[in-house]
Amino acid sequence: GKNIQIAIDGPAGAGKSTIAKIVAEQLGFTYIDTGAMYRAVTYKALKENIQLNDEKKLEEMLLKTKIDLKPSPNGQLVFLDGEDVTKKIRSNEVTANVPQVASLAKVREILVAKQKQLAKDGAVVMDGRDIGTHVLKEAELKIFMSASVEERAKRRLLDNKKRGIPSDYEQLKEEIALRDQQDMERKISPLVQAEDAIYLDTTHLSIEEVAEKILHLAKEKM
Ligand code: C5P
Repeated sequence: GKNIQIAIDGPAGAGKSTIAKIVAEQLGFTYIDTGAMYRAVTYKALKENIQLNDEKKLEEMLLKTKIDLKPSPNGQLVFLDGEDVTKKIRSNEVTANVPQVASLAKVREILVAKQKQLAKDGAVVMDGRDIGTHVLKEAELKIFMSASVEERAKRRLLDNKKRGIPSDYEQLKEEIALRDQQDMERKISPLVQAEDAIYLDTTHLSIEEVAEKILHLAKEKM
């Protein structure tokens, strides 16, 4: 088939990355986790004590920053200036602060340029918040994936339990809702469904069912 671009957007914890990874593997495509890039920038800014609303300083920092996404058997590894930060960028501190960093024009400009470059030859599954609306406007297949906030918090809770991270359901629900609100209300490239995206409510679907649906849609375009 053809080397198409698949864009998967949606709110936090909807299962985008889990699904995107499976779909990419099944099609032999490259998976690109754009959230990991915003997380890596946030992690570095926190480490360097840069004010998270100081756009100028963040731009200077970014111009001296190298972010690499490397495929690995257990998913994707994230390297920041050569250091493996795959685990570190998932901390609560980073998670809570990403929306602020991701709301800045300069940050988005630099990361979006990199994302477009990575996807230019197609054969990619890219997930994020603005992929269908801004990064890959011409993507052959666009999915907007969501689930109720209760279901998303429940999935996060299970996920954390498996990884040995203690967490509280009500708190997770609040954190997810707050992050969605911040991502939907920002001025630049807010989280919104692209007009030509297919809406998938995964509240009552299994991972396999969602992956199957998207693979079916992808094969129609290839
Ligand atoms: O996908 P993930 O939950 O890892 O994304 C973390 C945060 O990065 C989001 O809450 C959002 O603020 C930001 N993000 C973004 N645009 C993207 C991907 C992520 O603004 N394309």
